[in-house]
Amino acid sequence: MSARVKDLQAQGIAILDLTAGEPDFSPPKCAEEAAIKAIHEGRGRYTAAAGTMELRKAVATQIERELGMVYDPKQIVITNGAKIGIAQALMVLVESGDNVLIPTPCWTSYPEMVKLAEGEPRLVECDSDLLPRVADLEAARDERTAALLLNSPCNPTGMVFPKALLREIGEWAVANGVRVISDEIYSTLTYGDAKHVSPLHAAPELQKTSVWIGGMSKAYAMTGWRMGFLAAPLDIAKAISKVQSQLSGSPNSISMLASLAAIEHADADRDAMCNAFERRCKIVVSALSKMPGVDCPNPSGAFYAFAGVKSFLGKTCSETGRTVHSGDDLVELLLEADHVATVAGSAFAAPDALRISFATSEKVLQESMKRIAARLAKLS
Ligand SMILES: Cc1ncc(COP(=O)(O)O)c(C=O)c1O
Repeated sequence: MSARVKDLQAQGIAILDLTAGEPDFSPPKCAEEAAIKAIHEGRGRYTAAAGTMELRKAVATQIERELGMVYDPKQIVITNGAKIGIAQALMVLVESGDNVLIPTPCWTSYPEMVKLAEGEPRLVECDSDLLPRVADLEAARDERTAALLLNSPCNPTGMVFPKALLREIGEWAVANGVRVISDEIYSTLTYGDAKHVSPLHAAPELQKTSVWIGGMSKAYAMTGWRMGFLAAPLDIAKAISKVQSQLSGSPNSISMLASLAAIEHADADRDAMCNAFERRCKIVVSALSKMPGVDCPNPSGAFYAFAGVKSFLGKTCSETGRTVHSGDDLVELLLEADHVATVAGSAFAAPDALRISFATSEKVLQESMKRIAARLAKLS
């Protein structure tokens, strides 16, 4: 979709782009300054494969303060982005022929990462409220189920999984020897009454078997800095660090120093960004709720809304004459006729939907919502 958007923009067409998977904010100034200082001081050298002890300690402290989980800094591995952290954790935890449960809608990369680790991704559909259920996970589980990938707040749905549900899932996982890889990259972005809880906090026994994932990309708008973290039982952390030492080697040393500065000094930047996302979320939720036929459980985290559009399938646009057979068709129609770019649910293993990112200005969101509503009203 981003290639299509660029193509149209190159033709001089102004596109309202709701596809972004990254915050449209600048990184905290203190992180930028720390990076520049680090470069001038010649700190751009290799470090230990698991990252500097200074940053591992800071991450452990932050996890304890914000999520209530206690880890020894030796259990923390700094990775070159959360993405490679998840992939490396899968390489360590999944044996050839194992399967990994993935609630859907899910982030595009999970099933592919599982396959790269020689596992079988088992997609488990969430309920109509876009939350996973233990009964469905249990139905998909067998003796080769090695892990469950959880992602709350969720990309693409914006759902924040409630603590009671996480406890139930966590206790089920512990009882059945299923490890959890908990991708909490959006943990600082929650809105209204929603509060992020780690499944490893909701069901503390999980900390003995499972892997927590976090990072700088979303919380601090530092996507290109490629900084992720994971926390795991010591033997697993060591194994992941060994894999990392063979694959990418030590994490980016300049980014580690910048991340340290941000973790220690940029809470205010983080909160300001979160407040801006919350205002945008309200704009999107309020507009979607007024569109008849759109099914969208209210998002309360990350920066996405996931709009179910099943009721429009088979309908024809009175203006363009085009019939919408799938979420992909609707995305195409909105792009071509209204110059609004969204991402089709098929990218997230949930085809009858589209993802709307609110990592863009309130003005763009308001105009986009107007155009989407007008287009949907023309489908009959
Ligand atoms: C659910 C989820 N996990 C992980 C990542 C990757 O984060 P990073 O930039 O730290 O690799 C993303 C990025 O879009 C994401 O949406």
